[in-house]
Amino acid sequence: MRRSVALGCGAYLPERRMTNDDIARIVDTDDQWIVERTGIRERRIAAVGERTSDLATRAAEAALAAAGIGASDLDLIVLATATPDDTFPATATKVQAALGMRRGAAFDVQAVCSGFVYALAVADSMLRCGQAATALVIGAETFSRILDWTDRSTCVLFGDGAGALVLGVGEGQGDKRDRGVLSSHLHSDGRYHDLLYVDGGPSSGAAVGHLRMAGRDVFKHAVTNLSAVVEEALTANGLVLDEVDWLVPHQANRRILDSTARKIGIPAEKVIVTVDRHANTSAASIPLALAAGVADGRIQRGHLLLLEAMGGGFTWGANLLRW
Ligand code: COA
Repeated sequence: MRRSVALGCGAYLPERRMTNDDIARIVDTDDQWIVERTGIRERRIAAVGERTSDLATRAAEAALAAAGIGASDLDLIVLATATPDDTFPATATKVQAALGMRRGAAFDVQAVCSGFVYALAVADSMLRCGQAATALVIGAETFSRILDWTDRSTCVLFGDGAGALVLGVGEGQGDKRDRGVLSSHLHSDGRYHDLLYVDGGPSSGAAVGHLRMAGRDVFKHAVTNLSAVVEEALTANGLVLDEVDWLVPHQANRRILDSTARKIGIPAEKVIVTVDRHANTSAASIPLALAAGVADGRIQRGHLLLLEAMGGGFTWGANLLRW
């Protein structure tokens, strides 16, 4: 059975660190409130003129180097972002040009914080059905650009960054022992638009506005939906939670991570956590966490990874991936 196998991953974070104390100089908040409610201690902020495609390109270069291939070997770029450089063309095509990739296809996927899970599912489908043999899946965001820096209930939660994963094609037996993407499970429910959105945008006739969120409602839906999709992914593959080596969740905030881990019953030491250093980087958070786990040696070849995310839409989903 044709499988999409991970060849390497990489990450890029903007240089500028913004601590909670730095934010407390802008809005009425403090380090203690932010740490207690979210687990976030600092986030990175893109420099003036540094765009989502710049972060994505740096992460992609690191992933290609880890995979030991060049951009000309790629057939496909799928880039997840809710903060594209421009309304069009796709940010993926800017990355394609910056990498010097002159063939294949490049496009964006928009599923907000679930973007990487969606993009990985799309790339995996294209690889398995033979439309591509090598793919670059990227999550990249500059959320600092769409935050209302006068709203303390949202501006403390997000950060900028990018992560990337190179996939190639391998052969498996078609069961849970195979290396590669075992399955993806995607969901959305558009009735919840108003709980998490950015106002404005091309067809509304207004310039892009700011992120708006009903934090408590999002929190409750997140824990419920994430637990359900984890169960769904395990059941679909005849797996039990004990067989999962690492949960690599979207890093929304520490309390969502802890509540979800408790609800599904995975020990905290099996959860890769970066939210303290990165905050919520939306579609970038899973590949950033993946790259952190690989770089420090926790994630090893053959390990079973469970990726899960929930975001605006609502969208949510999971991928099972044997590294
Ligand atoms: N600093 C200090 N006080 C703050 C604050 C801040 N940054 N932000 C909000 N507050 C205040 C509120 O004004 C409110 O004050 P009040 O009681 O005087 O009205 C109080 O803290 C409680 O606010 P509330 O929104 O009920 O807090 P909460 O416990 O729900 O925590 C979140 C807020 C945003 C941290 C929490 O709801 C959350 O994590 N939600 C999920 C958000 C998320 O991760 N979304 C992305 C999903 S992809």
